[in-house]
Amino acid sequence: MMNLDPNRVLIAPSLLSADFSRLCDEIAAVEEAGADILHLDIMDGHFVPNITFGPPVIAKLRGCTNLPFDAHLMIENPDQFVGAFVDAGVNMISVHLEAQVHLQRSLALIREKGALAGVVLNPATPPYGLKYILDDVDFILLMSVNPGFGGQAFIPSVMDKVRELSAMLRHGGKRIPIEIDGGVGPGNAAEVVSAGATILVAGSAIFNHPPYRNVIDRMKEEGKMAQGGFAYA
Ligand code: DX5
Ligand code: ZN
Repeated sequence: MMNLDPNRVLIAPSLLSADFSRLCDEIAAVEEAGADILHLDIMDGHFVPNITFGPPVIAKLRGCTNLPFDAHLMIENPDQFVGAFVDAGVNMISVHLEAQVHLQRSLALIREKGALAGVVLNPATPPYGLKYILDDVDFILLMSVNPGFGGQAFIPSVMDKVRELSAMLRHGGKRIPIEIDGGVGPGNAAEVVSAGATILVAGSAIFNHPPYRNVIDRMKEEGKMAQGGFAYA
């Protein structure tokens, strides 16, 4: 199983904004440009008003890269598909707190299948619901847009939620990285990292602005500067 270092700023390009007719080339290009993780947005047309791709496509893409695959499941009944995503080569799987009633069971299932387990919160969902499942999660994904589409604007109130969650994790002695997704790019990388996020998802900021290396380098630089001397023990 992969290891997530909560002290390292990691850049995760979201494939949603890539050229879908050249997925393998696009993935190789972001890997070459210094990406750390590949973020895969899985949408079912029910939980969110859009449809993307699923395990058969991911299984083919597994051969294009060595980057860890991070599947963000925006789907109803995620438990039904966890095994298929792991078999397709996914290393991190996150499920929405809002998508099902038995969250702990979903997280345990993800770990049991051999992937890192994440919980995702929509912008309006408070972080307090996470308190009793922290031992079951490997990372927490905070949405900074309403999920469904790339290219939306960062919702400013989420910045406070990142701070609150980060404080809650530190006080509880939990070394759980916070991932942030939606409207993130060079313009706000410093701010989200100083708030406490370390895994930065970026779709349109990277894929709509080649060369990819420039954007990824800038985000890493800004993130590292903002992180300053802070580190988990
Ligand atoms: C939205 C997805 C995001 C999206 C981010 O539902 O979860 O991962 O691709 O795209 P940008 O970075 O363009 O906001
Ligand atoms: Zn996403």
